[in-house]
Amino acid sequence: MSEPTGAARRRGPFKVGDQVQLTDPKGRHYTFTLEAGKNFHTHKGSFPHDELIGAPEGSVVRTTGNVAYLALRPLLPDYVLSMPRGAAVVYPKDAGQILAFADIFPGARVVEAGVGSGSLSSFLLRAIGDQGMLHSYERREDFAEIAQQNVERYFGGPHPAWQLTVGDLQDNLSDTDVDRVILDMLAPWECLEAVSKALVPGGILCCYVATTTQLARTVESIREIGCFNEPTAWETMIRNWHIEGLAVRPDHRMIGHTGFLLTARRLADGVEPPMRRRRPAKGAYGEDYAGPNADGGTGRRDGPVPQ
Ligand SMILES: C[S@@+](CC[C@H](N)C(=O)[O-])C[C@H]1O[C@@H](n2cnc3c(N)ncnc32)[C@H](O)[C@@H]1O
Repeated sequence: MSEPTGAARRRGPFKVGDQVQLTDPKGRHYTFTLEAGKNFHTHKGSFPHDELIGAPEGSVVRTTGNVAYLALRPLLPDYVLSMPRGAAVVYPKDAGQILAFADIFPGARVVEAGVGSGSLSSFLLRAIGDQGMLHSYERREDFAEIAQQNVERYFGGPHPAWQLTVGDLQDNLSDTDVDRVILDMLAPWECLEAVSKALVPGGILCCYVATTTQLARTVESIREIGCFNEPTAWETMIRNWHIEGLAVRPDHRMIGHTGFLLTARRLADGVEPPMRRRRPAKGAYGEDYAGPNADGGTGRRDGPVPQ
């Protein structure tokens, strides 16, 4: 049985063409591609790539200046944070959430927009595998090119499950029977009609947005279009810990904000979304509220607020 695309590049002794991530004594990372006969230069001397070719991962190399570097293959989270960027990438912590809560499974048919730098595309391709289908849409040709290079460098060539289209999702989406749609863009609400036609009943729409105003508009628009269940919205924060003797505490620095996530599921055709039983907080739809559900103060499209 042949190995899944990219798997051979993730295990075994280092080979020519592998990416290597070096860690120096201060914990700084340097990434390069192994080439026979080449040298890796640092400000404290150099070492030949040949020393690593054939060596196991986790080897230590010394430069001519006697500085030790630990050599490992970059993990996908390392790779996406160090690869060339067009647009801002989906951070690994959010990619992990998307894989889990958008329920990405091997063999899934997935649509994604925009592609940006190809970070999320790489995570999605690994999760759906060679038998799945990922159709990615990106409106900017220059970003699509960067993404294609990043994804192909990671997998060691084209991925059999990947199709990349340059253009706006809402104007080009032609896929049907799609299991999952992931939107990472400024205005996901512009794509809802096209997305609702592509998704299978029970399929999942997952949106990643950077600001609260985008989040609110996306949720209200999903409610308004009427063929999804009630969206779930959340964010995640990762706080790393410093552990040194008795000094066991959170790191002083962290990534405080990346984006918000939301998911909603496609209902069967012709089905009305069930009544929301939650009573809106007092003032949620007060006179300052101008969103799509501003309906005379009840804030509801599905009947009066139960008293
Ligand atoms: C934040 S980036 C996406 C980053 C990407 N998910 C990643 O992990 O590298 C947003 C991208 O969406 C693209 N975009 C915005 N609206 C779009 C649309 N309607 N259709 C297709 N692409 C769109 C932008 O050009 C931009 O490249």
